[in-house]
Amino acid sequence: MYRTHTCGELRISDAGKVITLAGWVQKTRDFGGMTFVDLRDRYGITQLVFNMETDAGQCKLARELGREFVIRATGLVAERSNKNPNMPTGDIEIFVDTLHILNPAETPPFTIEENSDGGDELRMKYRYLDMRRAPLQRNLMLRHRMAQSVRHYLDLRGFIEVETPVMIKSTPEGARDFVVPSRMNQGQFYALPQSPQMFKQLLMVSGYDRYMQIVKCFRDEDLRADRQPEFTQIDCEMAFVEQDDILNTFEGLAKHLFKEILNVEFPGKFAKIPYEQAMTEYGSDKPDLRFGMKITDLTEKVVGCGLSVMAEAEYIGGIVATGCADYSRKQIDDLTEFVKKPQIGAKGLIYVKYNTDGTIKSSVAKFFDAAALRGWAEVTGAKAGNLLLILAGKRDKTLKALGELRLEMGRQLNLMDKNKYIPLWVVDFPLVEWDEETKRFYAIHHPFTAPKPEHIPMLDIDPGKVHANAYDLVINGIEIGGGSIRIHDSGLQKKMFEVLGFTDEQAQYRFGFLMNAFKYGAPPHGGIAFGFDRWVSLFAGLNSIRDVIAFPKNNQGRDVMQDSPGIIDDEQLKELGIRIVTSDK
Ligand code: AMO
Repeated sequence: MYRTHTCGELRISDAGKVITLAGWVQKTRDFGGMTFVDLRDRYGITQLVFNMETDAGQCKLARELGREFVIRATGLVAERSNKNPNMPTGDIEIFVDTLHILNPAETPPFTIEENSDGGDELRMKYRYLDMRRAPLQRNLMLRHRMAQSVRHYLDLRGFIEVETPVMIKSTPEGARDFVVPSRMNQGQFYALPQSPQMFKQLLMVSGYDRYMQIVKCFRDEDLRADRQPEFTQIDCEMAFVEQDDILNTFEGLAKHLFKEILNVEFPGKFAKIPYEQAMTEYGSDKPDLRFGMKITDLTEKVVGCGLSVMAEAEYIGGIVATGCADYSRKQIDDLTEFVKKPQIGAKGLIYVKYNTDGTIKSSVAKFFDAAALRGWAEVTGAKAGNLLLILAGKRDKTLKALGELRLEMGRQLNLMDKNKYIPLWVVDFPLVEWDEETKRFYAIHHPFTAPKPEHIPMLDIDPGKVHANAYDLVINGIEIGGGSIRIHDSGLQKKMFEVLGFTDEQAQYRFGFLMNAFKYGAPPHGGIAFGFDRWVSLFAGLNSIRDVIAFPKNNQGRDVMQDSPGIIDDEQLKELGIRIVTSDK
């Protein structure tokens, strides 16, 4: 037997037992007569003691131990004289009488402790070492517990887990596909699924009325802190349901996870906010409701002024930052730079400071008298001591910019409490949106999402106004999941493809199998998919999903440990019938 206990297990009640532990040397401390070794495994750390007086041989061996040596030690559990209350095993230590070096180790490139001294790239290169650290081990164990909890909850409710293929037909819509060349069908490619969307719908046609799968999805898109090229969804679909059946079932799942994993309870129902309201009040379809600071529409209030950015703006809106009237010139300049960043795209920032002494200071004081500025305070609810921040321009873009500015102020004022969770459903999304560049409509969700039944006649007249039977679960400003009621009628599906600008042939080539399936008795159905990595990272209190994934990619989509993607042999290319053409770029 390699070990009788783990390194996180022994307590004062075990004092007097002879035990054997195995693990990694985190640290050795040598005090002449005594040598202490911190022995680590994924369960914790236990202190080993070697005494020069009683056993010089073992003590000398212990002094030779380097960081990360793998060892096995047998000895007596004893009460510690100077206890460490910060460690679960801090009351005891082991007087070792037999030490075995199971495997020596080279000095690791960074310290493997709770906090490491290694930079991001270095730790990614040696990911297997980084994963020895307690924070990463906690994350992966949390991930495991959440996956178990999800499966258990859904299993009890009749969901069955069905695996769907990973090599599928390319049906790009949304992100770009990753593709896989076929040797047996030269010149042809499989795609990796962006989600199992069509398969889960086909499972409904096949009669498996409650499906779930914890499944890898692949999207070739620009990466961010909450996006990886391969990520995991909790993917679900149900037949014979309406929107509320789905929301109730998965609100139940969310509450179950919160209770079981974080011991957080939500007594009432999650709020349901229509998309339009989320955009006008928070400038985002994933509003963070941990704080207020709603956007106020000032368009009507600002008429006939001599300032062209305001006079000509389609929309003017503002947010009120409490207690910020004393913001310095530099702080306002920084906020101005923030809203002018290309990804936010505002032209400038207008401010009004309602000082505590009753005076008003504003960047547009030349154009508006005090009465007008006081009028703005009335509509926005700005009080003495508050700062009103205003943006003007095209409506949708300005609302989004105000949404970003609101989040920035939330960060600056510490309004995003990490221990507070506010889940909500965003509902009534538009079905499609117009893209000026390609001059066509795109599905906001995906092309299989059903329009609200009462809006179907509008598909022919004004598709941009049609609402979808779609919903997102948002928690603390993060889109945790999204889904919809699906189209289950081949005629309506055909109409939807028309709206999206597919010719009959294109629709038939890409989605023919689904439209055919719908001819053979498709039940009404709908579903949802949650970003599992996002959910775990939210529960772990992290800002990035990278550290809840065992082997993630970096921001360039590279696995720096494996150094992939990489080139393949000419022989392999030949078999696949592929020639690489290097571009000048
Ligand atoms: P959607 O595209 O909204 O819906 O994806 C569902 C959820 O998956 C997460 N997610 C991601 N997480 C990490 N990295 C990514 N690149 C990434 N992309 C998406 C988000 C998102 O809410 N088939 C539909 C679902 C359905 O209609 O049932 C779908 O995939 O948390």
